[in-house]
Amino acid sequence: MERIKIFDTTLRDGEQSPGASMNTEEKIKLALALERLGVDIIEAGFAAASPGDFEAISRISEAICNSTICSLARAVPKDIESAAKALEKAKLKRIHTFIATSPIHMEFKLKMQPNEVIKRAVEAVSLAKSLCEDVEFSCEDASRSDRGFLKEIAAAVIEAGAKTLNLPDTVGYRLPQELGAMIQEIKAFVGDSVILSVHCHNDLGLAVANSLAGIQNGARQLECTINGLGERAGNTALEEVVMILKTRQDIFNGLDTRINTKEIYACSKLVSDITGIRPQPNKAIVGKNAFAHESGIHQDGMLKHRETYEIMRASDIGIPENNGLVLGKHSGRAAFKDKLESMGFGEISQDDLDKAFERFKVLCDRKKEVYDEDIRSIMTEETTKIPQVFELLGLQISSCSSGVPHAAISIQKDRETRIDAAIGNGSVDAILKTIDRISGYKGVLKDYKVEAVSEGKDALAKVVVKVEFDPEKPAVIGHGLHLDTMQATARAYLGALNSYLSMRELITNKTIC
Ligand code: KIV
Ligand code: ZN
Repeated sequence: MERIKIFDTTLRDGEQSPGASMNTEEKIKLALALERLGVDIIEAGFAAASPGDFEAISRISEAICNSTICSLARAVPKDIESAAKALEKAKLKRIHTFIATSPIHMEFKLKMQPNEVIKRAVEAVSLAKSLCEDVEFSCEDASRSDRGFLKEIAAAVIEAGAKTLNLPDTVGYRLPQELGAMIQEIKAFVGDSVILSVHCHNDLGLAVANSLAGIQNGARQLECTINGLGERAGNTALEEVVMILKTRQDIFNGLDTRINTKEIYACSKLVSDITGIRPQPNKAIVGKNAFAHESGIHQDGMLKHRETYEIMRASDIGIPENNGLVLGKHSGRAAFKDKLESMGFGEISQDDLDKAFERFKVLCDRKKEVYDEDIRSIMTEETTKIPQVFELLGLQISSCSSGVPHAAISIQKDRETRIDAAIGNGSVDAILKTIDRISGYKGVLKDYKVEAVSEGKDALAKVVVKVEFDPEKPAVIGHGLHLDTMQATARAYLGALNSYLSMRELITNKTIC
């Protein structure tokens, strides 16, 4: 079998998706899940972009053993040095440097002549190579670049030491036969001197098809993201390309990946829990309906012979065979731990286990049926907590069709209890205003989402908020999980505030080099 390397960029290109920002703890958790999934290279961020990115890359570098950790860097010395520094502790590391090569980008964005672009690319690769053995070079907007120029820059960066040459369809413009032809021509030119890579965006819905055309024409690295998360319409979805390669071995004969497909579902859930961005229900492989058979004719066919309507098994991607109904009030710690393991939460600390078990017991007392999804949400929340500067102690709200909605809240900070109350245009407004009064930070709510975690009238509410506490800094995401939607709202808003404070601390401590 010939190996296709899977390069996951959920933490970099995926995080560039509007509203998808993650805090460091969440990034580490996702990196560990990607390692379990078996991705070859994890692009953990863009070290020079922000202190938060730098910190996340360096902590991920310490935590991961079996995947190569990569940082993106523009073709400028400060970016490359910052990437090398962030990757210092990685066992396996790669610097990924890039510059745009299309006429439109060179003329209007870079304002550089083609020969200057080649010079800059060679200098960048040489510097990266002096700091890290494994260097990838990307020709941004390769698919709209002149082929002759692509060959010139390819020869120059390979000579300077690049081991992987990535040819992105940055704006998602190409059709599969065009993308395939570009890879074929460059492959004929570079031969085996470098690994060719494809990186496709999904603006016309062709990212997966284009990536596969690249593979069929000689690319041996595939850049992708979980759930197809990414800029604009997103990137190639990892789960789709991997399952196509596995399911259509008759076509992709002799090509395989190192991916453990049974971890796909857990990774997909984790990404959607962290970002609050759910795949559409009919999304291939990981959508809620991807393995659901609604029509009577289909169900009948399935019962007679499963393969009449199914080309893959839900269990191939790690969806549990049962109906997801789990443990109850009388379940003990051992059964709870077993359940977590079967759901892919293998390596959790005793402390996280204890806290999650405590919350599970509280939930069992209040909710008739506890589903896998409830447990998954509790675990995600418990294991990705950032330092709790402000912690919710109590919340009282009053709202009715006439009268003024108001909230009274008690919050703990540095072991001191602070209490206040405020009125608002509605319950959510009153809660957020009260928290602003108590904390002294005024947030601007940019996005608010609420959804039921599982089924039934007594389902857990999951609230995701996006809040801007400082117009000069990126907005932060907060999550809250509770049976009561307003409690979940208060938790989510405080989570965002805590996340902002830990990000601000990072900036003032100047973790970045
Ligand atoms: O889409 C793109 O061209 C990129 C490069 C930086 C690899 O993301
Ligand atoms: Zn991209």
